[in-house]
Amino acid sequence: MFSALYMIRLPAKHLIFGAALLLSSVLLAQQPRNIFNFNEGWKFVLQRDTTTRQLNIPDAEWRKLDLPHDWSIEGEFAKNNPATTQGGALPGGIGWYKKSFELPASWKGKNVSIEFDGIHRNSEVWINGHLLGKRPYGYISFQYDLTPYLKPAPTTNWIDVRVDNSQQPNSRWYTGSGIYRNVRLVATGSLAVKHWGSFVTATPLTNSQARINIETTLRNTGPRNGKAQVSYQVFDQAGKFVLSSKTKTVDLSSEEINSKEQLLLNNPVLWSTDKPFLYKLVTKIIQNGKLSDQFETIFGVRSFYFDADKGFFLNGKSMKIKGVCMHHDLGALGAAINTRAIERQLEILKAMGCNAIRTAHNPSAPELLELCDKMGFLVMVEAFDMWKKKKNKFDYFADFEDWHVRDLQDMVLRDRNHPSVFLWSIGNEIREQFDSTGITITKELVDIVKAIDTTRPVMAALSEWNPEKNFMYKSHALDLVGLNYHHEVYEDFQKHYPGEKFLGAENMSAFATRGHYEEWPSDSTYFWPAKSPLKYVENGNADYTVSAYDQVAAYWGSTHEQTWKLIKKHPFLSGLFVWTGFDYLGEPIPYPWPARSSYYGIVDLAGFPKDVYYMYQSEWSDKTVLHILPHWNHEDRKTDRPVDVWVYYNNADEVELFLNGRSLGVKQKMGEDLHLMWRVPFQAGELKAISRKGGRIIKETKVETAGVPAKIELKADRSVLTADGNDLAFVTARILDKNGRFVAIASTELEFEVTGDGQLAATDNGYQADTTSFQSKTRQCWKGMALGIVRAGKKQGNITLTVKAPGMAPAVLRLRTMERVKMVLDKF
Ligand code: GAL
Repeated sequence: MFSALYMIRLPAKHLIFGAALLLSSVLLAQQPRNIFNFNEGWKFVLQRDTTTRQLNIPDAEWRKLDLPHDWSIEGEFAKNNPATTQGGALPGGIGWYKKSFELPASWKGKNVSIEFDGIHRNSEVWINGHLLGKRPYGYISFQYDLTPYLKPAPTTNWIDVRVDNSQQPNSRWYTGSGIYRNVRLVATGSLAVKHWGSFVTATPLTNSQARINIETTLRNTGPRNGKAQVSYQVFDQAGKFVLSSKTKTVDLSSEEINSKEQLLLNNPVLWSTDKPFLYKLVTKIIQNGKLSDQFETIFGVRSFYFDADKGFFLNGKSMKIKGVCMHHDLGALGAAINTRAIERQLEILKAMGCNAIRTAHNPSAPELLELCDKMGFLVMVEAFDMWKKKKNKFDYFADFEDWHVRDLQDMVLRDRNHPSVFLWSIGNEIREQFDSTGITITKELVDIVKAIDTTRPVMAALSEWNPEKNFMYKSHALDLVGLNYHHEVYEDFQKHYPGEKFLGAENMSAFATRGHYEEWPSDSTYFWPAKSPLKYVENGNADYTVSAYDQVAAYWGSTHEQTWKLIKKHPFLSGLFVWTGFDYLGEPIPYPWPARSSYYGIVDLAGFPKDVYYMYQSEWSDKTVLHILPHWNHEDRKTDRPVDVWVYYNNADEVELFLNGRSLGVKQKMGEDLHLMWRVPFQAGELKAISRKGGRIIKETKVETAGVPAKIELKADRSVLTADGNDLAFVTARILDKNGRFVAIASTELEFEVTGDGQLAATDNGYQADTTSFQSKTRQCWKGMALGIVRAGKKQGNITLTVKAPGMAPAVLRLRTMERVKMVLDKF
């Protein structure tokens, strides 16, 4: 899979486009295995009704596009879209994709397959009119063997794909619709490593030696006689040769051939979340003296365990799991996967000190796991959000019976080599936990996973905390107890679950809108729906906002501070997964339409951190933090009530707050405190915090009362992009006053324009109730900020982004695109 990505980033001349595979014949002749990006040059049409067949759709209606593609995100938000606001209030429907291609002459005699990383949902695929199969589950990767149906050059071959996401609601969150992940074409000889047929894990044996366990499954479509030789080489991530195996001879008497090997690696560099070191295993298959396949598998050397008393250990060292749950959407880009967009999310989380991701509640794009391997995150890979009992009218429950074995196996087969993957979750808040069917199905699913991989614990995210009442727990098949919420029982966990290992599988569910502040007062906690005096949230705010002081949560959860304080305190509480790292599309609890995205994120949908991000950063990372909330534009305050000022800090003994140069006193966190608070009568000007350690100033930060909006400031996360048609620049626009002070209450409407070798991919502002399409060039700022996402074109050149607003000088930003800049997945 790593090699696949590597190939995807070959210079444009080696990519497949148009009607033919424009491939260098030299390249093809040299390699026994060819992996090609098959994303370009598809045609798409959104079917008008459920009965029209693809053949009856006139040619003029087909639109040319490149994959990955999500048609829902292109649509308009609407209250009546059947996905409901839970599903993001965007349209579903039935889509058709088609693509024609010619095979290169040199592929004669090769086995050719097509690999789809994910199609949401109910896909059916045809090659030259022959139905290859159907996959209902929208998150599963799969492949089809095209060989028997392909026509040799110069005849044209046709692939047709029907995607049916019309039956809605079918999810509790936004799914996206279409071929939203990557597609590849793979050509191999008649003897080759089977699809997902390479399994490599490596664990340290001693301080100076590790064992690499290798299982290789070959597929032989040639004669069932004779022999072949299998050998392995290991390289480190700098590309340096490390070791090679002896050559093993295998018998070719069957279609499937298994070969096992163990290698000893001296002085291994371990994979960890701080130093995610990787190795590459190259598998070579020789038949009749010729290389018949060469296959690359990325792996890492690491060990871990959970201890019932002491928590989690990675490579023998105690470590708290500081995780977040993430849904798969990429905000304004929808579900269409983009490696840079995922990488940006992970960069933001890494900088916060997060060390683990849960793929809630489904298998992820493979690129997420590749990035987690490289960037150092542990990953809980999750299979399902429901089994036989539904959560939504048209969800996977109806497919479970026929497909769960295949889907679960495929998930494990695909993801089992990643050093980042440390847990398999067989389900989230599964309804069967409440009755005895939970026992049988849990056992069955755990067996399915363990028949393939015994190196990782199998767990589930349980919402019934009581061991007496939870039938999934009663199966005694789960390796650890993953609890969703119920922090109130955590301190007594060892009493309730003697000898068991704890994991907070999902926690908090606290709400916030970035940049919006209310005090009721801010040091009281409010739940939704009302559990305590919660009038405020029950009635809601007219603008669908929730205060960004960490003080509002779903009744089943807690504020961020409440649960973290507990997890932090007890070693047996191995860690947690905050619901969620980023806001996601759909599930806008606690508001109805027009709210259409969630309030749970530590970071908003546009990727802008909410204030609580800095609480985590002060607790989870080594970075020196000093953060003040709220902003300092409270001129419209109607009461004479003071403003609650919170400060998050670390690496210091104390903080002193100053208003317009006047000290408001020195404070320090006491006991379990995670923030400081001052009650400050508002007075326009400058509010400054200074942190000190041993009397020495560690850090200073301030918020200022800004004047009227006067200027637009633009900042790009990267100014040089790869000219591959995929790479992105995330440009943050902030509104400043004439003196350059950030206007944290500005709602200026901006107009984005991109010229040159790129295009505007989407705009956003992180506000949960903004129903302007993400495709819109105009975007109102939310609390002083907006985001423009610029996509590189395929030509080397320049991009100019101009952002305009009434009465202000246009802001201009220049970006460059280059043939190939170093990519994060490019290390080898
Ligand atoms: C959990 C559920 C999540 C999400 C969350 C919202 O119970 O597992 O998917 O719905 O609640 O608080």
